[in-house]
Amino acid sequence: TAPQLDQRYKKSFSIGAAVEPHQLEGKDAQMLKRHYNSIVAENVMKPVNIQPEEGVFNFEEADKIVNFAKENNMEIRFHALIWHSQIPQWFFQDKLGNPMVNETDPLKREANKQLLLDRIETHVKTIVERYKDDVKSWDVVNEVIDDGNPPNGKGLRESEWFKLTGTDYIKVAFETAKKYGGENVKLYINDYNTEVESKRDNLYNLVKELLDQGVPIDGVGHQSHIQIGWPTLQQTEDSINLFASLGLDNQITELDVSLYGWPPRPAYKSYDEIPGEVFENQADRYDALFKLYEKLDDKISNVTFWGITDNHTWLDDRAEEYNDGVGKDAPFLFDPDYKVKPAYWAIIDHK
Ligand code: XIL
Repeated sequence: TAPQLDQRYKKSFSIGAAVEPHQLEGKDAQMLKRHYNSIVAENVMKPVNIQPEEGVFNFEEADKIVNFAKENNMEIRFHALIWHSQIPQWFFQDKLGNPMVNETDPLKREANKQLLLDRIETHVKTIVERYKDDVKSWDVVNEVIDDGNPPNGKGLRESEWFKLTGTDYIKVAFETAKKYGGENVKLYINDYNTEVESKRDNLYNLVKELLDQGVPIDGVGHQSHIQIGWPTLQQTEDSINLFASLGLDNQITELDVSLYGWPPRPAYKSYDEIPGEVFENQADRYDALFKLYEKLDDKISNVTFWGITDNHTWLDDRAEEYNDGVGKDAPFLFDPDYKVKPAYWAIIDHK
């Protein structure tokens, strides 16, 4: 029988999976218990789910994941306190319901900024106070760096958070999390494409500046939505080493290895269409990647997959979107029938 993945990597880092609450039962739950010692919510801890209306907190779904983790001795990651996506619009509306970004009067703009920072403080405080004894690693802010070169010249994503507060929203989020979470909470800045030099360096400069100002950042979360042929191992290694050189921890927070380039076109229409050779290539990729993670294991404390088996992956939405509504991706170690794939054996055994 197949060895337990988390046991295989016990000496190096914890192994996590992103889940929806319905996966806490049945076959998915069995997989979680057998192969993973860490867990994160795929969606239910995001602002739109946790505080859909101002002052109305909904912890029911998030609690299910936290309770499952506690019953099964798993670590918990929180994803994510502050993000520009899956965010309810009330955050950015003034007391009259008008979009705050439209305000031109400087005094009112200042008041709006304060209102938004107060809302961040309330959101973060309420959640951190609830889960601080259970959740170890926190994605405090998600995707604050742009992929390109926006007008601010520093690569900062010009979200509504940024337009209204500059980088103060990031500072307030981290400071509030630390203030109410205390020493035990580990605070991460999380992003994708952290291997791409330009984006990586923009993230580095931001983090360095914040650390110099005393902002309590403990680590960088590398989402790692990668592909069989991209990015290079060298890019991954360089990025982890770069952030470690600041004294920071690294976590691999949303790992999946897509079969496709970007955009995913053409994509296989169904799982049965995917040639065995593709799964072998994917296995080689996983093999090399986990060898690298093991080599760097003093700089990486957790590796989390953005799902469990190929029967449930957000990448299917993308494959469908770019292929006229049909398309199947297969980024994980287990197939849709919960059977191990070549990629699983590759990272258990390292050929
Ligand atoms: C994705 C979820 O997997 C989807 O179910 C949802 O529809 C959209 O969000 N980066 C992140 C994650 O930080 O929160 C995203 O999760 C995937 C990309």
